[in-house]
Amino acid sequence: MLIKIKKQSDICESDITSESIYLKRREILKGLGLATAGLAFPGASQAGILDYFSKKTAPIKDRRQSLSGRVNASYNSDWELTPESKVISHNNFYEFGMGKGDPINKAQNFKTEPWHIVIDGEVNKPYKLSMEELLKLFTPEERIYRLRCVEAWSMNIPWIGVRLADLIKRAQPNSNAKYVAFETLYDPQQMPGQDSRRIGGGIDYPYVEGLRIDEAMNDLTMLSVGLYGKTLAPQNGAPIRLVVPWKYGFKSIKSIVSIKLTRQQPPNTWNITNAREYGFYANVNPDVDHPRWSQGSERFIGEGGLLSVRREKTKIFNGYAEEVASLYRGMDLNKFI
Ligand code: MTE
Repeated sequence: MLIKIKKQSDICESDITSESIYLKRREILKGLGLATAGLAFPGASQAGILDYFSKKTAPIKDRRQSLSGRVNASYNSDWELTPESKVISHNNFYEFGMGKGDPINKAQNFKTEPWHIVIDGEVNKPYKLSMEELLKLFTPEERIYRLRCVEAWSMNIPWIGVRLADLIKRAQPNSNAKYVAFETLYDPQQMPGQDSRRIGGGIDYPYVEGLRIDEAMNDLTMLSVGLYGKTLAPQNGAPIRLVVPWKYGFKSIKSIVSIKLTRQQPPNTWNITNAREYGFYANVNPDVDHPRWSQGSERFIGEGGLLSVRREKTKIFNGYAEEVASLYRGMDLNKFI
């Protein structure tokens, strides 16, 4: 039997669990005829299903408020929506732990008020906004987008947000602005994973991400402030996170405090952590497998019970090729992963 020794920071292939919990899960899965000789589910997608078995049942405070966005019907999807209960309970937010159920349990007291976001760097008019100011200046829209995680699971979510392009234009980028760098809040007191390898997986925090300027200005690219008619829950990246639906979910950085326009390509967390497995571009691509699993299909988290598994074929650019394929014309997508 092949045993892979993984680094603590390997992205989520299977959530790190104690051996006894893992073995118990395997027994249950075996009973259901789901376990195979190697991984219970080939690839990364078992993480979500298995996590349901260990979910703590501490009562969850829901601090979200109603928030509406003008429905933009051009952005829809023929898939059913992922139930809200799953969108807010199956999360990746390593600052609060590596398990899918950790963010909902451990981010409950995360303080998101007051919150400011700064836009600066290669711009003529840098500025800083509170969330209240941001929502007065930019009218939120509701758009239904698919979210495809590099771990080969996906969701379909009614996001509420504003176009990143509008925020960038307000700062008047200068001609040196070639990239956009994003940074999550750094506050280890509130985000215990930021100074604990055991909780945060040994990532170098704060979590950072980046886009090319043309990607950032694309109409699809959103800064989300809510979903399902409410403000974001802490576990989803409150109060403001990026959504780039044609890229793997790790590009969608959460709880952003800084947006900086830069000359050089900025670093991004998963690429710093493991450059062999995660690139800068991270465009969803069924033809370029992750070194440890196939990206040809995905487990769609939709309606249904704990063990409902619906496999869908992964689409190039997550189904958004019409809107974004031209951004990558002439680039070798096997190389620029
Ligand atoms: N942002 C921060 N700051 N920390 C994280 O661990 N995880 C990323 C991304 N943004 C992450 C993050 C990953 S791997 C994914 S798939 C998405 O958030 C998940 O978003 P969701 O939990 O709202 O589904």
